[in-house]
Amino acid sequence: MYQDSNFYLDADSNFSIKLKGHQPFSILQLTDLHLGFGPFSKKADGLALQAVSTLIKRAAPSLIILTGDSIFPFWPRSGTLDNKLQAKKLTDFLDTFEIPYAFVFGNHDVEMGAKASKQEIAQLLMQGNYSIFSCGPAQLNGVGNYIIKLVNEENVPLCALVMLDSGMYGDGWFFSGFDCIHSCQTAWCSTALRSLKSQNPALTAFAFFHMPLAQYKTAYEQMKLGNKDVTYHFGSIGEPNDYFGISKNDCDFFQTAEKDGILKGMFCGHDHYNTLSLTYHGIRLTYGMSVDYLGYSGIGKRYTQRGGTVLTIQSDGSFYIAPLPLTSVVSTFVRGKKSSDSGNVKETS
Ligand SMILES: [Fe+2]
Ligand SMILES: [Fe+2]
Repeated sequence: MYQDSNFYLDADSNFSIKLKGHQPFSILQLTDLHLGFGPFSKKADGLALQAVSTLIKRAAPSLIILTGDSIFPFWPRSGTLDNKLQAKKLTDFLDTFEIPYAFVFGNHDVEMGAKASKQEIAQLLMQGNYSIFSCGPAQLNGVGNYIIKLVNEENVPLCALVMLDSGMYGDGWFFSGFDCIHSCQTAWCSTALRSLKSQNPALTAFAFFHMPLAQYKTAYEQMKLGNKDVTYHFGSIGEPNDYFGISKNDCDFFQTAEKDGILKGMFCGHDHYNTLSLTYHGIRLTYGMSVDYLGYSGIGKRYTQRGGTVLTIQSDGSFYIAPLPLTSVVSTFVRGKKSSDSGNVKETS
C-alpha cells in the first residue's frame, strides 16, 4: 500500500490525500490495459506496457486511476488463467513510476475460470508499494467500493474520488450480459458524498467505474438529435453500429447523482473504441481512451482510440478533462517540442 506523509487511511477504510497550497491535482485515467503476461501475449503486452509508460511519463500525474480490465486471464488470448501472476506483474510495473495508483475491477480481471477470486486479487493489488485500494464495505455489491478524498491542510474535504465495482456479468455468467452499479452502492455513495458536502458545501466529486451507464448512450442519442441539453466535448463512438456495452439491468446511479448534484463527472472504460466525452444533465460523462492491444481482435493495428484521459482539478473546484492520445505523445517526440492537449475544456462546478 502507498505510504506518504500526506496520505491517510481513514477509519472507514476510505483514504485522504492532503493537498498543499493551491497546486492543481491531476489524475491520469488508464483503462482496459488487458495485460496477459502469458505465452500468447508477449508482443501485445510489450506494446501495452510501452504505451502505459509513455502516457504516464507524458502526463506526470498526481494519481493514476485504472478503470478495469487491467489484466486479462482469458486463455484464448493470453494463454494463461493465472491472474495472480498478472496482478503481481502489473503492480511491480506500476511501482516503477513512483506515482500512487488506484484500481477498480472490470469484467475481465477475474474472468470466469481465472485462478484467483476478486478478494484474492484485491489482496495482491494492495501489496503494491504505490497502490491505493480498499475492498470497501462488505455488505455492498462487488469488491473495491471506496473513496479517495482530497483534503486541504485543515482536513476539509475539497473533492471526492469515488471508486466503484460495476460488476461483471448480469446473471453471473459470460453470455448473460453485463452487470452494473447496484442500488446498495448508489445509496452508499450518495450517503457518503452528502456527508462530505455537509463539511464543505463547495465539495466536488467524480466517480470511476468500468461499465458505462445507460445515460452515456442516451446522451449520445440526444446529441445526435440536436438536443441542446447535451454538450459535446471530445471523442467519438468508435464501436461498430454505435455499440454501448451497457447493462440491461436497472441502475439508479445517474439519477441519484443528478438529484444530489455533487458528482460532476464520471469516467468509465469497457468499450475500447468509444472515447466520447459529453455533459448530460450537468454531469460530465467520459469514456476513457483505452490501451488494449490484446482483447479485441485486430485492435493492435488500430490507434486512434489508444491513450489515456487526464482530469485536472483546480483548488477552486473547477476542472479540466482532456484526452491524451498516444499518437499525440509520439508526435511530440517526432516534432521535438511539447504539443498542446486537445479538447481541453474548462468547466466550473
Ligand atoms: Fe476491456
Ligand atoms: Fe470490460
